[in-house]
Amino acid sequence: MNDVVRSRTDLSEADLEWLHALVADWQLLADLSFADLVLWVLDRDDTKYWCAAQMRPTTGPTAYVEDLVGTSIARGRRPLVDAAFTEGSIRRDGDPEWWDDVPVRIEAIPVRRGDKVLAVISRNTNLVAVRTPSRLELAYLECAGMLARLIAEGRFPQPGTDMGRRGAPRVGDGIIRLDQDGFVTYASPNAVSSYRRLGLTADLVGHRLSELTDQVAPRSGAVDESLDDVVGGRAHRRTEIEGNGTYLALRAIPLDPGGTHAGAIVLCRDVTEVRRRERELVTKDATIREIHHRVKNNLQTVAALLRLQARRIEDDSGRAELEEAVRRVGAIAVVHETLAQTVDDTTNFDVIADRLLAMVGDVSSAGSEVTVRRIGSFGVLDSAVATPLAMALTEVLQNAVEHGLAGGPGHVELKSSRAAGRLRAEVTDDGRGLPGDFDVETSGRLGLQIVRTLVVGELGGILEIEPRESGGTRAVIDLPVP
Ligand SMILES: Nc1ncnc2c1ncn2[C@@H]1O[C@H](COP(=O)(O)OP(=O)(O)OP(=O)(O)O)[C@@H](O)[C@H]1O
Ligand SMILES: [Mg+2]
Repeated sequence: MNDVVRSRTDLSEADLEWLHALVADWQLLADLSFADLVLWVLDRDDTKYWCAAQMRPTTGPTAYVEDLVGTSIARGRRPLVDAAFTEGSIRRDGDPEWWDDVPVRIEAIPVRRGDKVLAVISRNTNLVAVRTPSRLELAYLECAGMLARLIAEGRFPQPGTDMGRRGAPRVGDGIIRLDQDGFVTYASPNAVSSYRRLGLTADLVGHRLSELTDQVAPRSGAVDESLDDVVGGRAHRRTEIEGNGTYLALRAIPLDPGGTHAGAIVLCRDVTEVRRRERELVTKDATIREIHHRVKNNLQTVAALLRLQARRIEDDSGRAELEEAVRRVGAIAVVHETLAQTVDDTTNFDVIADRLLAMVGDVSSAGSEVTVRRIGSFGVLDSAVATPLAMALTEVLQNAVEHGLAGGPGHVELKSSRAAGRLRAEVTDDGRGLPGDFDVETSGRLGLQIVRTLVVGELGGILEIEPRESGGTRAVIDLPVP
């Protein structure tokens, strides 16, 4: 539509906006009319019309099989369209036209914005479908007639209401016609079923919709103004009601052609299934968070038990081993604690890194001056990467404090950077350096074995431990990250 309007016509951007708002919502008119709609705009040279948009009804057969958008017809070929353009009023023919043995009734509805006619809708009703109209069809056609008048008067679409956006109830979902006092004069079978599911046992027709709605959908809390507007049919608005475990989306379209209030259309759609699925997702997230929380608690209990046990061991080295185990369990608990606070299965690893640094700093600060700091950012990581990485870093940090600084003062730095699908984490200390016979491949008691298994085996990365030029040690972990 933008292409056609901008390249062929003199319409302004505000006019184009209006046509967009119309087209966003004109399914309603097509469905109520059981008719095809074609939007014609006038070429700037005044000699022809261009088709800017087309809509088929979902309630009946189409009169056009082919696509018309972008095609043109010469002025004068369609007297009704000409007349609607120049006179600004709705025009219709008495007798149907015959298209390939199909009787088609043709009408032309001017689209008005202010005092200007922007375009003309030609409405082509396939009369084979309308036969002898039922009550449903009569009610629909009457509403369609009023809607067409509102369009011709420049009072539909309602600018800025954004009423036809996705998820809005459609004619086929359920339609209720209200008279000027808010009484139901017609309700489609789908609308009746929806109100039955809300718990209504009485008839809809002949009652005030606002009273019926109050009976079956108790209001919660504050007075809901939009509900009054919608079920009273007084304003272009949407709302949602709930009763008996059923959720109903409602949309009102007041019908006031010529400025006289003639009631309203209320469309309704059962959205229970949509709401139920939303709720399920929320509880699933909450469950995952709760599980992480419990895992963390359990790990902390294990750590506490080990710590108790460590105190009772007389042998110093045995006790130190158990204290190591306490630290390792604690590192995993840290990861689960952060995962318990995030909604999805990714986590901001910077938070975890800071907590690991604080933990290592605590353990080492037996009165000595050890400063730890973090440079750069890890960013968001998958929890499948976060847990092994956290453990590996804990080991490397621990070594820096324990062997590098060896209980003395010094600095430990954790530097991280991400580029081109890789994450690089560097732990440096300015301690006494690696022993002479050190070899990263073979060396290592449990600590470095754990690091190698996690970094190389599990995460598919590279591990390097080397002397630093300025003294001390540098450990590098380099991982592929998605
Ligand atoms: N930053 C470092 N500075 C100096 N030496 C280091 C450093 N990191 C590792 N080492 C040396 O590498 C050895 C192996 O480390 P590893 O972590 O595997 O064992 P550990 O720390 O002695 O015992 P644990 O199993 O408790 O970690 C250490 O004993 C130490 O000699
Ligand atoms: Mg170690």
